[in-house]
Amino acid sequence: MSGLLEGKRILVTGVVTDASIAFHAARIAQEEGAEVVLTGFGRLSLIERIAGKLPEPAPVIELDVTDQGHVDTLADRVREHTDSLDGVVHSIAYGPPGAFSFLDGEWADVATSVQVSAYSLKALTVACLPLLEPRGGSVVGLTFDAAVAWPHYDWMGVAKAALESTSRYLARDLGERGVRCNLVAAGPLRSMAAKSIPGFSELAQVWDHRAPAGWDLTDPDPAARGVVALLSDFFPRTTGEIVHVDGGVHMMGA
Ligand SMILES: NC(=O)c1ccc[n+]([C@@H]2O[C@H](COP(=O)([O-])OP(=O)(O)OC[C@H]3O[C@@H](n4cnc5c(N)ncnc54)[C@H](O)[C@@H]3O)[C@@H](O)[C@H]2O)c1
Repeated sequence: MSGLLEGKRILVTGVVTDASIAFHAARIAQEEGAEVVLTGFGRLSLIERIAGKLPEPAPVIELDVTDQGHVDTLADRVREHTDSLDGVVHSIAYGPPGAFSFLDGEWADVATSVQVSAYSLKALTVACLPLLEPRGGSVVGLTFDAAVAWPHYDWMGVAKAALESTSRYLARDLGERGVRCNLVAAGPLRSMAAKSIPGFSELAQVWDHRAPAGWDLTDPDPAARGVVALLSDFFPRTTGEIVHVDGGVHMMGA
């Protein structure tokens, strides 16, 4: 039986530990037949070690989305491993500690949060366009539902609202060039990014009693499967969409 991503080539950003949503997206993509190239931020030897836990070997390319040199040379460096891409996973977010205090948040912290977590979706997608365009493709990012205000999430919530809007504008501008752009709005997961959110446990408690389909903070599989589904050919006319993979919390009133 052929896999959902058989013959596809996918660039996956955002692997830093084996709890990263990106790690599980890469794993499931490989299980579904894709060839995967990873990008890593900073600790490349650590990320290469984590990549070694994937079912198949995957090269790791360095990418700091705030480094214009990295972004400008990305396509050429990906070409050392594959001559085209069918999909790109954006699994990148960062907010400095000051971003998690709304009324005290300073612009420098907000600017960093928006640049790394939202503008980077545009930077990454445009950098990959030369590789995506010949055959068309799917860009998938990860958000934490920014339609509402959450405890403690503060300026990261604003950055996620910017990410959601960025995804819609990319979808608008790249549709006619054969590129779709969608997001998975995941429920809370105990990753490294989650550890840097003060009050994450309080935020996550909502999922104890409001998720009709159930939720496990230690299981990135559902979110990663959502990513792989959006990378596949099974959403051919879906773009600018946000698919909630959150146990149903987003639609509960109380
Ligand atoms: N964990 C959750 O509760 C949760 C819920 C919904 C959405 N998300 C989103 O999922 C995505 C992945 O997060 P995760 O939970 O897997 O955590 P993670 O810590 O494993 O991944 C975050 C990644 O962002 C990367 N990153 C940070 N700054 C970067 C930069 N300047 N350039 C390139 N990469 C950079 C980190 O290296 C890391 O790999 C993020 O967008 C996050 O907001 C997470």
